[in-house]
Amino acid sequence: MAMNAPRGTQDILPGTVEKWQYIEDTLRDLSHRFNYKEIRTPIFEHTELFQRGVGDSTDIVQKEMYTFEDRGGRSITLRPEGTASVVRSFVQNKLFGLANQPTKLFYFGPMFRYERPQQGRYRQFVQFGMEALGSEDPAVDAEVLSFAMKAYEELGLTSLKLVLNSLGDQESREAHRQALVNHFSPHKEELCSDCQLRLEQNPLRILDCKKDKDHPAMETAPSILEYLNEASQTYFSQVKRYLDAMGIHYVVDPNLVRGLDYYNHTAFEIMSEAEGFGAITTLSGGGRYNGLVEDIGGPDTPGIGFALSIERLLMALEAEGVELPTEETLDCYVIAMGEKAEIEAVKLVDQLRSNGLQVDKDYLHKKMKAQFKAAGRLKANKVIVLGDREIDEGVGNVKDMGSGEQKEVKLEEIVRELKEEKEE
Ligand code: HAM
Repeated sequence: MAMNAPRGTQDILPGTVEKWQYIEDTLRDLSHRFNYKEIRTPIFEHTELFQRGVGDSTDIVQKEMYTFEDRGGRSITLRPEGTASVVRSFVQNKLFGLANQPTKLFYFGPMFRYERPQQGRYRQFVQFGMEALGSEDPAVDAEVLSFAMKAYEELGLTSLKLVLNSLGDQESREAHRQALVNHFSPHKEELCSDCQLRLEQNPLRILDCKKDKDHPAMETAPSILEYLNEASQTYFSQVKRYLDAMGIHYVVDPNLVRGLDYYNHTAFEIMSEAEGFGAITTLSGGGRYNGLVEDIGGPDTPGIGFALSIERLLMALEAEGVELPTEETLDCYVIAMGEKAEIEAVKLVDQLRSNGLQVDKDYLHKKMKAQFKAAGRLKANKVIVLGDREIDEGVGNVKDMGSGEQKEVKLEEIVRELKEEKEE
């Protein structure tokens, strides 16, 4: 039986991986401009971290985690997201004690969720995320939002929608929670079994239920925005004021609740509005999580961040017909004909590579014509032909594949000449 990769995972092959690299380079460059530093945390953590961090009542923790016992009897989970791990590391490594605050971090890496695979939904997917810890300035919220939008725009996307909401502070959330309980309780029996549980554990999540979305009580559900206390209202207005100042467009949607428990105040998602994008249109999401650092055992520290998945970003690029500039070329392809020439070719290829050129040669002993074809397919700028006659005369035949021009160059001068040409 042939072996396939597990459901919901994929191989990223040459030809596609260049797109990933281009995206990663762009996001790294942007992070650098925003002065965020990279952090790398383990792919697995103690299960308790996500139970406490992401929240016991979330779908992620209840249904989607890859959890197993290791040989030492500890419960381990493959990370379903990055925020809890970054916060754990922030606390463990006492990054809150560093002179420069807020601590601004970004990360790349695979995340794991046992979800039903479909287009844009994988069981292993790669997130890019960023977290700013240690400031409760609404300008930081605006900075993260600006980053998220710029990331997509710099990669060439235009059909984007930024959806914004405020979940308020603890007091506002509590008031809203009570209002939701009062509103949905008379309909309890009509709601799905998950929502019946949510009514007790986390009524806000009812608003995000796919099964009950057409229930009439959904439309009349109390909006969080009506329950924001003054401080939360002021905070939300300030975030919006900064976005307006930067010319960032957004729509406010009071039903945007997000699937993780740690959020308060700002919550947002960025959607693709490209035609033919598919059913799942969310490209990224994030928000503020004051309180999470404390929940994970650190000092009271505010935080905000967001994450996107590269898989969905690639889908959006495809839907909008954006071609990333990822064409691969080769500086030089070396063709050898004859035994003496073969040794000289191996040596020359090696020297060219040591001098910074991107070089390849044939390893299948193909005929000259087939080797030229290979050079063409690899988009080589130059082809060097070495035959036994050329070796005896101490020269190589250098062909410029663009102009078709050919010339003999002394063997000892080839490396210098090609290097100089590349540098020009
Ligand atoms: P999230 O909304 O669960 O948030 O995930 C963020 C993004 O990851 C989603 O918008 C989506 O693009 C992508 N994503 C999620 N699940 C899948 C999947 N199964 N397949 C492909 N892509 C997926 C978080 O993870 C938070 N940690 C974000 C955050 C950072 N909040 C504050 N800081």
